[in-house]
Formats: sequence, C-alpha cells, structure tokens
Amino acid sequence: MKICYLLGYPVEHSMSALMHNASFQSLNLPYRYELKSIPSAELVNFVENELRLPEVRGANVTIPHKHAIINTLDEIDETSSKVGAVNTIINKRGYLTGYNTDITGAYRALKESYGNLRDVKVAILGAGGASKAISYLFAKNASIVSIINRTLKKAESLAATLSKLKECISEVQALPMEHETLKKAVKEADILVNTTSVGMFPKSDETLVSKTLLHSELFVFDLVYNPPQTRLIREAEEMGAKAINGIPMLVYQGAAAFKLWTGRNPPEELMFKTLKEKLGDCR
Ligand code: ATR
Repeated sequence: MKICYLLGYPVEHSMSALMHNASFQSLNLPYRYELKSIPSAELVNFVENELRLPEVRGANVTIPHKHAIINTLDEIDETSSKVGAVNTIINKRGYLTGYNTDITGAYRALKESYGNLRDVKVAILGAGGASKAISYLFAKNASIVSIINRTLKKAESLAATLSKLKECISEVQALPMEHETLKKAVKEADILVNTTSVGMFPKSDETLVSKTLLHSELFVFDLVYNPPQTRLIREAEEMGAKAINGIPMLVYQGAAAFKLWTGRNPPEELMFKTLKEKLGDCR
C-alpha cells in the first residue's frame, strides 16, 4: 500500500481524502490518502522522517505550508519556483520533487466557466499560497491584476515578484483591503477571485466584499467550497453576476496530483460526484 498525505494545519475540514480514496478504490489502485495535521514547527521533522519513507508516494500541501515546504524538498518544478508555492510532492526513493497543480486546477475551472482570460481585468482577494497560483495564472493572461490584501506588504511582494517574470503581460498592482479601494477595483473588474478562507464553514456568514459593490458584469470565482454556496456567491448571483465556487478547482488540482502520483487518468466525474454527495450541489 502506498500512502499520499495531505500536509496542513489544520486539515480536518479537507475533502481531499474522500475524493482521492474514492478514486483509488474505483481504479483498484493500492493507494491510501491520509490527512496529516502538522504544526509549522514540526514540518521539517515530518518531511525528513516520514515523507521520504518507501511506502509514501507523495503528498498534497495546504495552508500554511505551501511556501515553507519548498526548502525541505530536493527539487521543485519551474512553475512552483516562479510562484513560490508547492501543493503536490512526489517521493521517488527518498527524493522529493514539488509541483503546483493549483495553477492547472484554476486554469481549467476558469476556462470551463468563464472562457478566455486574455486581457481581462481581475481583482484578487488575498496574497497567500492559493493567491500566488491564481495571480501567476492571471499575470500571464490579464491586462490588469489587482492583488488586494489585508497585509499590504504581502500583496506588494507578490506583485513585485510577478511583474519581474518574462511571461507577465499584465499591469500587476497591490492594494490594501479597504472599502474605497475594493469599490474601485471591483467596479472596474471583469473577474473577482476570493483566495482567502473568509466565508468558509463554520463562519459562512462572512464576506470581504459588500453586496452593493457586486454587479451583473462581474464573474466571481470563490475558492471556498464548503459551503458550496458562500455568502459572496449568493450575493453575487443576487446582483446578477455569474459565480463559481472552489469545487471545480479542487477537483482539477486533485486530478493533476492523482496523475502525478499514479500515472493513471483520474476519474474526474467520480471526484465531482463524491464531493457533491458530501457537500450538496456543487456545479
Ligand atoms: P492559502 O494558502 O489558502 O492562500 P494563506 O497562505 O494562509 O492560505 O493565506 C490566507 C490569505 O487570506 C491571506 O492573504 C490572508 O491575509 P493576510 O495576508 O493579511 O493574513 C487572507 N485572510 C485570511 N483571513 C482573512 C480575514 N479575516 N480578512 C482578510 N483577509 C484574510
């Protein structure tokens, strides 16, 4: 039996084990997915003593380790290195390589429900690990990328990193999370992305953007998937906007990780079905 871990803190809320274990079983693969709640202080120890073991095939990485994990790995692929975040690891005989399947996951989710990202104007809430992948994807396609964060310094640092990349064709700006700034950025945006955990169960009544700022020309992408209909999504729809939740991205990033670990094509419909059964309607 090969093990794939989810490394995060906390991880108890995650749906990844459900989705991956159903997929492994449906293809009769001798794999097991396990949630591992690891405080930051124990991350290096875990990587050295557990992740390199022969029975471990790899891992997913989530909050708050997507950046910190990088220094513990032997190699990371080019895109993870550019965005400074890893969410998938493969263990090959004790040699650990990091990848970022969030980018592919977000790209497929957006392509399917929005279409072409060329020259769009996007407002991105948050500047953490998930935002790095999303912001990188847009920096390669959009005309304006506004990264709006509570801690402005983090948004500035991300904007500076992205602006230096040769594939960046956007004007990337960092903005503080204040009402007037949000008002202007959301008004001018084609797409609004929430990469923060605000709105997630159990604090499902929270939102970073007041309803009055949302408009019918906007497409909202909320990375939160539990609940499937966040307050942001509900209010966006009430204002006539189109909106999607984090389920498609969760499935597509998971599908890419599944392929990396097993070499097999992932049963994506089963992944959607498993999540739908657990969370309610999700597409
Ligand atoms: P992830 O890997 O999922 O992106 P993360 O790296 O912990 O998680 O980043 C969380 C993001 O959500 C950050 O941008 C954080 O803002 P700060 O940089 O100011 O911490 C943002 N965030 C989390 N809770 C928030 C809240 N209540 N209000 C505003 N932003 C919040």
